Amino acid sequence: MFAEQYNAMVVSGRSDSAYQYILEQLERLDALQDKRICDVGCGQGELSYRLSGRGAHVTGVDLSGKLLEFAKRKTEAVTWIQDDAMTLSQLPSGSYDVAVSSVMLVDVPDHLAVFQSVHRILKPDGIMIWAITHPCFQSPFSSPLGDGARIVKDYVEQFWKSEGSGTIRSTLGAYHRPLAQYLNDFIATGFSILRVDEPARLDTSVDNLPLLFAAVGRKIS
Ligand SMILES: C[S@@+](CC[C@H](N)C(=O)[O-])C[C@H]1O[C@@H](n2cnc3c(N)ncnc32)[C@H](O)[C@@H]1O
Repeated sequence: MFAEQYNAMVVSGRSDSAYQYILEQLERLDALQDKRICDVGCGQGELSYRLSGRGAHVTGVDLSGKLLEFAKRKTEAVTWIQDDAMTLSQLPSGSYDVAVSSVMLVDVPDHLAVFQSVHRILKPDGIMIWAITHPCFQSPFSSPLGDGARIVKDYVEQFWKSEGSGTIRSTLGAYHRPLAQYLNDFIATGFSILRVDEPARLDTSVDNLPLLFAAVGRKIS
């Protein structure tokens, strides 16, 4: 049920801004052609598919066997692996040039463990790019007022589920963490931050505030 819903959302193009951002950064760094890239929490595989189409050797990892079934139907050019991003236990150390993570850190109870497992599988100087829903504006404490503004009532770490039923976030929930926590944990894991961005949202029908926050880092130790 969730896998079908999620696949439909990706097909509708609503996840495109994260994919576009990650592809642009990799192009800028000349880190696509012939690079070994791990797509951590690849979901139904759209980003992995696009990376592979640009000449990268891609491994797509996800916990959900159902989403990986959608992914496998997309292409055989990607190596699809069912594994936990908090360990990446099936992936060898020091073997990837790049790891990308599109809107999945908000799904895991331990984002630091993801940073650490990614750090382990990257080669020296390897690149990690992650994008998350922007914690300042996309949170249980942030409500659109209907006139393009939002009211933000609080800004703390917590697990939350959206109201109602039948939607992805009312079923699975998400982990909300302040930006400083993500950035400090990324640095503490052994990454230097090359840049951070708040990509413009594609759908501005509710408001014009950034939907995503993203960071590019290099493994330094
Ligand atoms: C919001 S979806 C994003 C999927 C994909 N990266 C995209 O942008 O289309 C989050 C993904 O993280 C996966 N996920 C959640 N917890 C995970 C874990 N511990 N290990 C690996 N994948 C996980 C989910 O199965 C889901 O595919």
